[in-house]
Amino acid sequence: MAVEQATPTATKRVVTMEKLVNLCKRRGFVFPSSEIYGGLGSTFDYGPLGVELKRNVKEAWWREMVLRRSDVLGVDSAIFQHPRTWEASGHLQNFTDPMVDCQSCKQRFRADKIEGNKCPNCGGGLTPARNFNLMFKTFLGPVEETAAMIYLRPETAQGIFANFANIVDTQRVKLPFGVAQIGKSFRNEITTENFIFRTREFEQMEMEFFIKPDPAEEETWYRYWLDFRFDWHLRYGIKREHLRAREHAADELSHYSSGTTDIEFLYPFGWGELEGVAKRGSFDLDQHAKFSGRDLTYFDEDAKARYRPWVVEPALGVDRSMLAFLLDAYDEDVVENEERIVLRLDPRLAPIKAAVFPLLRKAGQPETAQRVREMLQKHFSVTYDQAGSIGRRYRRQDEVGTPYGLTIDHQTMEDDTVTLRDRDSTGQVRVPIERLAAELTERIGLDR
Ligand code: GAP
Repeated sequence: MAVEQATPTATKRVVTMEKLVNLCKRRGFVFPSSEIYGGLGSTFDYGPLGVELKRNVKEAWWREMVLRRSDVLGVDSAIFQHPRTWEASGHLQNFTDPMVDCQSCKQRFRADKIEGNKCPNCGGGLTPARNFNLMFKTFLGPVEETAAMIYLRPETAQGIFANFANIVDTQRVKLPFGVAQIGKSFRNEITTENFIFRTREFEQMEMEFFIKPDPAEEETWYRYWLDFRFDWHLRYGIKREHLRAREHAADELSHYSSGTTDIEFLYPFGWGELEGVAKRGSFDLDQHAKFSGRDLTYFDEDAKARYRPWVVEPALGVDRSMLAFLLDAYDEDVVENEERIVLRLDPRLAPIKAAVFPLLRKAGQPETAQRVREMLQKHFSVTYDQAGSIGRRYRRQDEVGTPYGLTIDHQTMEDDTVTLRDRDSTGQVRVPIERLAAELTERIGLDR
């Protein structure tokens, strides 16, 4: 698939941020953090359904970026890294936002988000812009002194570069190869906004792809990863008209990058970054070699040469990816004269794969339904619901994206078949209980 630069015309959507935030809170996807204490500025907790969706997003990424490839390996590095890491990586020097302070109300703003030179809060005068480093500081050990000061990592990438030699020495890898990592990152963002779009604590899925130091090779892999990642979002449910690729202008590039393209998504508040694909060259390995004094070269057997490889990096936020999937899954329609909210999540991402309902709360139906639930729980996340009319029970599941409803009725008691209802089409078919696990496995399609 070729990635194009044009802005496609957006279709009309029913979803708004407000509707989605409400649904997430009401049904246990995302809660404001520390709510019982009045909340803690733009931090969020994932509830029972959110945690499953998040796990599935991470698994979809890991499956396609690591498990199904023979050229990518995984690591899980510590959040705390030696403070020299951030000197070497340039984050101490360059990972800053310009900020201004109000001289009256003392509020702090990002200089590039302010129009004019008056405080948007109280109209007071503003200080000149100063650079504010986005890394969180803390202390390692019991003594709070400068020598013990460390940072919470602002990207997972540096844990990969710091392990480059360990991987080359232990894994018999040959260029080109990638190292992937999923984990938390922290940035003391001056402006947090739009729910889980930009927060101070978030999760990243990053992969550093090491290649020969050659511009043609770099261009090939840059295009390859851009196409691959663009396609990944589409395959898991992002709508084509809500996705575009936008190349960074020279003055937007991060300090380590010689070329970056953002894969942007059309959020209800406008186009914004979803994922970045960057050319990092040998910047990071060069810097770590210089600051650590270690040899971070790779021996190329074919060329009989030693060099530090170049890197192409696709980097995606888990929370932001989840937000995009939720926004594009959200729909409202009318079924049997009743309005419903339905999350048309890809079944692979859906937090619950199937819901089991006894039609009646008697005649052995609840017991059979529990038996079906236990049988299926060995394979997928399954829920059980016997409260209210069957229509209401379907709608409760539609709203959280459960793709399949299984109803146990009087016929089940006679012939061991159940009704399987599809969330999107609401069509129903009868399936023998003994075939259910296979039928659902096929429909969910984790092997796609
Ligand atoms: N290692 C490269 C890197 O970190 P980035 O563009 O700063 O690049 C990569 O971050 C991705 O991480 C972004 O595209 C976004 O999805 C996510 N991300 C970055 N900052 C975030 C924040 N404050 N809150 C949520 N997600 C964030």
